[in-house]
Amino acid sequence: MSERIPLAKPVIGEAEEQAVLDVLRSGQLSLGPAVPAFEEAFAQRVGATHASAVSSGTAGLQLALRAVGVSDGDEVVTSPLSFVASANVCVMERAKPVFADIDPLTLTLDPAAAAAAVTDKTSAILPVHIFGYPSDMAPLEALGLPIVEDACEALGARYADGTAVGGRGHPAIFGFYANKQMTTGEGGMVTFNESAIKLRIDSERNQGRAPDMDWLDHDRLGFNFRLSDIACALGLAQLLRLDEMLAGRERAASLYYEGLAGVEGLNLPCPDRGDERRGWFVFVVQLPAEFDRDATIRALGELGIQSKPYLPAIHLMAYYREQFGHKEGEFPVCEAVAAQSIALPFFPEMTSGQVERVCAALRQTLGQT
Ligand SMILES: Cc1ncc(COP(=O)(O)O)c(C=O)c1O
Repeated sequence: MSERIPLAKPVIGEAEEQAVLDVLRSGQLSLGPAVPAFEEAFAQRVGATHASAVSSGTAGLQLALRAVGVSDGDEVVTSPLSFVASANVCVMERAKPVFADIDPLTLTLDPAAAAAAVTDKTSAILPVHIFGYPSDMAPLEALGLPIVEDACEALGARYADGTAVGGRGHPAIFGFYANKQMTTGEGGMVTFNESAIKLRIDSERNQGRAPDMDWLDHDRLGFNFRLSDIACALGLAQLLRLDEMLAGRERAASLYYEGLAGVEGLNLPCPDRGDERRGWFVFVVQLPAEFDRDATIRALGELGIQSKPYLPAIHLMAYYREQFGHKEGEFPVCEAVAAQSIALPFFPEMTSGQVERVCAALRQTLGQT
């Protein structure tokens, strides 16, 4: 059988190896100069005033919720079609994630549903730029509540006004796990405009220590959510080739659109609306209703193609059912999409031959050769 095609694959070259080696040889592996250098370069890239590097996207989301004032007994309106981290962080901060259904086309939080979910306990809105597609921000901002954007999947995306995701002023969180548009192995970045937020996040990621304090004194409670210099140096090297990697993903996406054109009943990722731009992260298709998602994934696996259910609805996961009493039927758009969605192999260096093999395998599995 021909070589198995993986779901994701990072682009790591000599520049990344050298950057990491330089840090290893410098002797300063953490709390060193690579951290602010990475933060400043990243903030500039997305057009934000500040950025704080953190140990993961999840850590960034949690610190951002705290920074905008989410606390005990609050409600946070968010999307049920996301990676579970965006809901988990609300629970970690003792707030309740209140889900609202998604737009059937873009799969991001439906602003009307979000507005209807707001109560006097709502202390923040947490839109998720899912699969790299930017949420419809203007109507969410019109609700007048603090916003924390989950941009973990959306580096390179642009909002309807043409500006880069992450530069709107609200805290926006990016993730650098190895399947993301750029990687630091594990890691994340929070971008925002307010200096007070910078002080708070930088302190809370470092056990509650203020920048002018030594390690014996800490003026608030904090975590260890720091990102090492090794990771930040890797991030800087990745940032330098981000455009090339984004272009590789875009090329892979166009090959998929060509290769899957005309497959009956198959829903492909929506095209960009107006000036909105997707920051390509995954290529997720929705299978025709009569096809079982898990059986399709198994059949593709037998043909040497890795794929994954992406994403299951959060409110129907065991913990959320048990803890919050969620059940089927609450968010019908999300549930229908989640039941039929699979992520296909997708990475910047995918060859046209690999995309063709995936498309042929999917057509064969769906009986449409
Ligand atoms: C939408 C979304 N939110 C949050 C996260 C969490 O990021 P991390 O895995 O870096 O903690 C991810 C990453 O997988 C994600 O895709």
